[in-house]
Amino acid sequence: MNKDQLVRTAKAMVAAGKGILAADESTGTITKRFGALRIESTADARRDYRELLFRTKDAMEQYISGVILYDETIRQTAKDGTPLVKLIEAAGAIPGIKVDAGAKPLANFLGETITEGLDGLRERLSDYHGLGARFAKWRAVIQIGGGVPTDFAVEANARALARYAGLCQEAGIVPIVEPEVLMDGAHDLARCYDVTEFVLKTVFMELYKARVFLEGMILKPNMIVPGKACAAKASPEEVAQATIRVLRNCAPAAVPGVAFLSGGQSDVEATANLDAISRLGGPWALTFSYGRALQDAAQKAWAGQPENMRAAQAAFAHRARMNSLAAQGRWSEGEERTAA
Ligand code: 13P
Repeated sequence: MNKDQLVRTAKAMVAAGKGILAADESTGTITKRFGALRIESTADARRDYRELLFRTKDAMEQYISGVILYDETIRQTAKDGTPLVKLIEAAGAIPGIKVDAGAKPLANFLGETITEGLDGLRERLSDYHGLGARFAKWRAVIQIGGGVPTDFAVEANARALARYAGLCQEAGIVPIVEPEVLMDGAHDLARCYDVTEFVLKTVFMELYKARVFLEGMILKPNMIVPGKACAAKASPEEVAQATIRVLRNCAPAAVPGVAFLSGGQSDVEATANLDAISRLGGPWALTFSYGRALQDAAQKAWAGQPENMRAAQAAFAHRARMNSLAAQGRWSEGEERTAA
């Protein structure tokens, strides 16, 4: 294991003022997002859309440290034949790859899932390294509900995350360890806290047992928020207090960076919460690894029409800048109104 290289990559992924663009929607997921906007999801449309993001030069150079790709995208070329990976590298960002095969129903545990994808992972990682990937992502999904999550589901997902992380580091690839506690449901913030605490404790114990090098990984957690259907909403300050507290209790300071997922928060909400979290700070670099919260506005502006490309790029650049400010605890509603 080349520890120095892993540390260098991990630090670059959470460099000050920069965060990660999660553009790793599976074909099924991006087709759903496109469908909601009446965009036909062909391989070319998916390529055109992602190409316009990666060619948003100033925003990519200033605010984006890395891009998480999906298997199809890491092999695609831009319209002019340039590999999309090269566009990302040319902007000074690091290409990454989603390597899990998705969350599948866990046998005997109704309403819970296990993330699959360990079979053949060593070979796939070596292939992806050859294609330019220097970090990877694996998302475990934890549901909250009556009697859920169970210890078994949390432990099985944590064990898979740990095995994935070990394989990544062996291949010279920094693992993003993503245990996502979903926002679905009517649970309150305190319940999200308790479940996330148990999940993170379990994940770090499994990482320890699997001999994962903590200095060479990035944690991608959910923020501590009430469920979407919970009547009691939480202010950014409340979210930040709870989120930093759970991380201080569970995430060793050896981990260089924490890059949050947006998880279905609105884009401005995800920015405001990240800003409040960054103002509190911690021993780790704190930033974003957003999918929907970075892309929703751009996708809407684009709507599948080539003439909307500039408007879509402006929308993406605006969200990237807002989240860069938030990662530094320097965002404000005034900045928000400087909208493109
Ligand atoms: P969201 O920010 O849309 O939750 O996506 C981030 C991600 O990569 C989820 O795995």
